[in-house]
Amino acid sequence: MAKRDVIIAGNWKMYKTIPEAENFVERLAPAINDIPIEVYLAVPYTALFSVAQKAEGSKITVGAQNMNDASEGAFTGEIASKMLTDAGAKFVILGHSERRQLFGETNEFINRKVKTALESSLVPILCVGETLDERNAGQTDEVVRQQLTECLDGVTPENIDSLIVAYEPVWAIGTGENATPEDVQEEHSFVRKVLEDLLGKKVADKTVLQYGGSVKPGNAKILMDQPDIDGLLIGGASLSTETFAEVLENVSTSKLNI
Ligand code: PGA
Repeated sequence: MAKRDVIIAGNWKMYKTIPEAENFVERLAPAINDIPIEVYLAVPYTALFSVAQKAEGSKITVGAQNMNDASEGAFTGEIASKMLTDAGAKFVILGHSERRQLFGETNEFINRKVKTALESSLVPILCVGETLDERNAGQTDEVVRQQLTECLDGVTPENIDSLIVAYEPVWAIGTGENATPEDVQEEHSFVRKVLEDLLGKKVADKTVLQYGGSVKPGNAKILMDQPDIDGLLIGGASLSTETFAEVLENVSTSKLNI
């Protein structure tokens, strides 16, 4: 089995001004030099440039929370991949359930964005996950398979340099409700199997699978102890430097000087 990096990502959503974002990184970056974890921060567009500069040379990788698939054009309010890379982004979250539910994003649209990200050397963090109704109807696997199949349509092992998939059950996001580590492991092993069907075993083995949905310092380690959970995508608990550092401490079992 391929050895996969441990990647813990914070998704700041629509929080933090530029000074707040800078302050977070100034405090966290020096404290995490020695831990065996890659830390990703998905920051607001306005903070990308300065945070990417502050994070340079540290273990923090900076990215965005969304983008448009077009390279440029008359799309008021949208942002293009080259604007993100220009500002220092190395990855982009695509298909987050808030984008799907609140802004009507479809698998087809997300698929175009995934392809654009890959062409632009931005690592996509592709989010998938079922709603509570779908889970109760026993459709979790079916929904996740369809999301992966449609969002990765036309992507081949040759044009995929690096991909992260985040399994985020919609009912667990921001609710305090958690899937159990065993449930998540089962779904992650299913995701890996679907990736193998779509892109072959080599890609499936090396793809980092993150879990997201009410991750806190108290449950991060038991989730990460599962063999197919390679990382976490964290919303609420990534907003305070202390809480996020506590997650990193618990996962790495080393004390951080923050
Ligand atoms: P949460 O958000 O950790 O606040 O549940 C996770 C996410 O939306 O990625």
